[in-house]
Amino acid sequence: MKILVIGDIVGKPGRGILGDFLERKKDNYDLVIVNGENAAAGFGLTEKIVKQFYGFGVDVITTGNHIWDKKEFIDYLKKDHKVLRPLNYPKGVPGVGWNIFETSKGVKVGVISLQGRIFMPPIDCPFQRITEILDEIKKKTKYIIVDFHAEATSEKMAMGRFLDGKVSLVFGTHTHIQTSDNRVLDGGTGYITDVGMTGSHDGVIGMTVETVLPRFLTSLPTKFKICEEMARVNGIEVEFDEYGKCSNIDRVDTSIEEIDFADFL
Ligand SMILES: [Fe+2]
Ligand SMILES: [Fe+2]
Repeated sequence: MKILVIGDIVGKPGRGILGDFLERKKDNYDLVIVNGENAAAGFGLTEKIVKQFYGFGVDVITTGNHIWDKKEFIDYLKKDHKVLRPLNYPKGVPGVGWNIFETSKGVKVGVISLQGRIFMPPIDCPFQRITEILDEIKKKTKYIIVDFHAEATSEKMAMGRFLDGKVSLVFGTHTHIQTSDNRVLDGGTGYITDVGMTGSHDGVIGMTVETVLPRFLTSLPTKFKICEEMARVNGIEVEFDEYGKCSNIDRVDTSIEEIDFADFL
């Protein structure tokens, strides 16, 4: 089984290049997972964008701290469980943190959205909350994929080690910077600290330099604007064996000009 994971899609440039990429490549994959927390101009998601992603061939949308930015979308989370909000928000908040999906070949895959706590909003312990549900998912499938949306590399690597041998893949999102540590851990779990960002690579993690820099220079709030230049697709392409172990994990980092010839890292 081969899946594609795409990192935080930021605004229109991110959505545009995602569509171009999937138009050419989606038939290569049994399942396509994207992190959509920044798809609506950098802040959250809308129903219209979700439908656009499904039209592109996206099967699962994971999210993170920005999922709550569009107030009207919180209601939508109650009815569309192909969009996952982080599992470890307090119990009772709208939406689901995991679900079972089926590939085109009928293979069941469990996907979990989880969020870190270092330099992030204070929420429940991700290590404890995922432990509570793993047995239930394992009864349904041996393929379990975790999006760990977190800031600190240490917390992400600790989660990779904690889940090694218990799940098929732990990939990080949220920093918007792709890390080069893609590998298969000792217990057979695929791991990368961050899959990176799909959007403009010319600004500061998706926003224009002109709107971000003043916040650092003055500490005053500024309104960020989506950067339009140099769009790239960032993600990973991952293969699994029949036992649910990861057999290969490659990075995807490509521009629109390179898509047709993309060689994965
Ligand atoms: Fe993000
Ligand atoms: Fe985030």
